[in-house]
Amino acid sequence: MKPRKLKVLYSKNQIQKRTKILAGKIDNDYKKKKSKMLVVVSVLKGAFIFTADLIREMKMPVQLEFVRISSYGSAKVSSGKIDAPLLLLPNLTGKDILIVEDIVDSGRTISFLKEYIRGQFKPKNLKVACLLNKQTRREVDVKPDYVGFEVKDQFLIGYGLDSAEQYRNLPYLAISD
Ligand code: IMP
Ligand code: MG
Repeated sequence: MKPRKLKVLYSKNQIQKRTKILAGKIDNDYKKKKSKMLVVVSVLKGAFIFTADLIREMKMPVQLEFVRISSYGSAKVSSGKIDAPLLLLPNLTGKDILIVEDIVDSGRTISFLKEYIRGQFKPKNLKVACLLNKQTRREVDVKPDYVGFEVKDQFLIGYGLDSAEQYRNLPYLAISD
């Protein structure tokens, strides 16, 4: 693969700072709700780095679960279809659940997952945290409860986000051309 010049959008340091703030907000909100434990459902593959950093900044007890779903394929434009190669969760009936996603784009992935979790488990509480929110591209009506950064309609890579399965390991977020 040809080396590319990448334009950094958010540095490792900026992401770290913002993640800490979000973790503090989440801790506070669930403390107010007198929640004893939060189930974090991380959406693979993209959210794995953000999830790892976010939960390590949180003080409340966490149960970590993973699902693997997306609406993308390897193209840069949403395929419109949901692909759910791994949707295995233990019984989470009545729990406080927080979905953690890398980026909310059309909103289809999150909308699908929220509906699925609601239908399966009737959670006490179901919220969404995402590192990035591309509000301008929304096609279904979903609103993430915790957002790291609002971003423009640009294709981003790094810090878990890929372009055709590459660049997930960049420690920062960059704009892909
Ligand atoms: P949605 O279902 O359209 O909201 O798509 C969300 C998924 O699309 C995310 O979990 C990402 O995997 C992927 N995605 C959307 N925008 C980008 C981007 O700019 N870079 C990398 N992946 C993206
Ligand atoms: Mg994803």
